Amino acid sequence: MKNTIVVGAQWGDEGKGKLVDVLAEQSNLVVRFNGGGNAGHTVMHAGETYKFHYMPSGMLHNKLCILGTGVVINPKDLLEEIELFTSSGHTPRLKISARAHIIFPHHQLIDAKEGGKIGTTGRGIGPAYSQKASRINLRILDIIADDARGRIKEALKDVKDILIYEEIFTLDEYQDYCRSVSEEYASFGEKFKPYVTDTEDLVRRAGSSEESVLFEGAQGTLLDLNYGTYPFVTSSSTLAAAAFVGGGAIPGIPIRILGITKAYTTRVGEGPFPTELFGDAASNLRKAGHEYGATTGRPRRVGHLDLYALRYAIRISGIQELAMTKIDTLALVDGIKVCTGYMIDGKEIDYFPADSPTLEKVEPIYEDVPPITNLTKAEWVELKEKSKKDLPDSIRSYIKFIEEFVEIPITILSHGPERNETIVF
Ligand code: GDP
Ligand code: IMO
Ligand code: MG
Repeated sequence: MKNTIVVGAQWGDEGKGKLVDVLAEQSNLVVRFNGGGNAGHTVMHAGETYKFHYMPSGMLHNKLCILGTGVVINPKDLLEEIELFTSSGHTPRLKISARAHIIFPHHQLIDAKEGGKIGTTGRGIGPAYSQKASRINLRILDIIADDARGRIKEALKDVKDILIYEEIFTLDEYQDYCRSVSEEYASFGEKFKPYVTDTEDLVRRAGSSEESVLFEGAQGTLLDLNYGTYPFVTSSSTLAAAAFVGGGAIPGIPIRILGITKAYTTRVGEGPFPTELFGDAASNLRKAGHEYGATTGRPRRVGHLDLYALRYAIRISGIQELAMTKIDTLALVDGIKVCTGYMIDGKEIDYFPADSPTLEKVEPIYEDVPPITNLTKAEWVELKEKSKKDLPDSIRSYIKFIEEFVEIPITILSHGPERNETIVF
């Protein structure tokens, strides 16, 4: 199938960036469709590490990359990311939807004040999406308009009461802010002009022609605003369905939906995490997997692979196949288990709790897993052209167990952060 949607099947940071980089080689267009600078997608290639927050992870292949309508954009951060990429010798081929919404400094200030209980990334994501839904935010097309300054000043009138009531600004500070931000954002608009276009039309035409489109999700299914562990979620839809709404995927044209999962589980920020590890077991796994956030540098919470939550994510997002990352990390730790069910008050349940306090209470049902064979790079290279049956027993049976439980195949196995550390079955 020529069009593919890549989504996280856990709580984010599954390795979407790495997999999108791998798959981009065979694609014509790479499209981000949700989230904003809260995403941190790492791509490692030829000894260099790239952390993309906005730019789609197809950039290194020089593919046409698109920020779709569903993305919220901090123009300053995106311009810095473009500059950094350009200064490392690359020429970004980037197009931005005129309809994508803007993140303003006041969104970040509100996030800094209110986001603590969720443990947000502090990038202004929630306030930008909520003002979008309240129909009082501006879009990229507004800051590139001839009368951008006027549009920005006018829009800021709509948030004046909020900003003063919330004690984000005094009246004097608000007035200074209106002046400075309208100048600053209008000048960003000037710089954005060459990038802005009708991306929806571009994607639609490519998606229905011979070209292949790769849709890159941010965050993970369990952080979805509607179906995730609310309120400990992000503020956009992270499901594959969001690629249709926010990226321009075309309903009716067959599309491959690939979910990414780590061989274990991680989570950043607050919220329920039934299989979380603590103490030495947690620090060993965190150390083995270098589990520190790509956006905020926070230590990630780590835990056993939660197959029960993974199966829920697969069903909710319509994931058809999985790529599993970090099998090499799992080989470095002892005491591996997988969670195959949840109990509440001593009774096994058959649903994924919608209520976060209930999810906090679940006791996971575990199965022990034999240690994963630790292969050298050379041994992995030998396995590259082989099939699943040639994998060492421990890895083959781990994969088989997961596939049988979640009822979809693992079609890609990632055994290191570099592009070539990937086996496609
Ligand atoms: P994303 O947000 O889903 O793109 O994931 P992140 O980039 O935030 O986090 C994934 C981390 O795991 C990054 O540091 C990747 O370089 C790294 N990574 C991805 N796949 C593998 C793998 O198979 N093995 C190892 N050891 N690291 C991996
Ligand atoms: P990628 O695309 C992991 C988490 C935050 C917080 C919650 C809400 O790299 O997988 P937000 O700033 O979105 O309002 O924060 O969601 N979160 C992520 N966790 N990976 C991400 O993105 C995340 N984006 C947001 O830690 O708990
Ligand atoms: Mg990440």
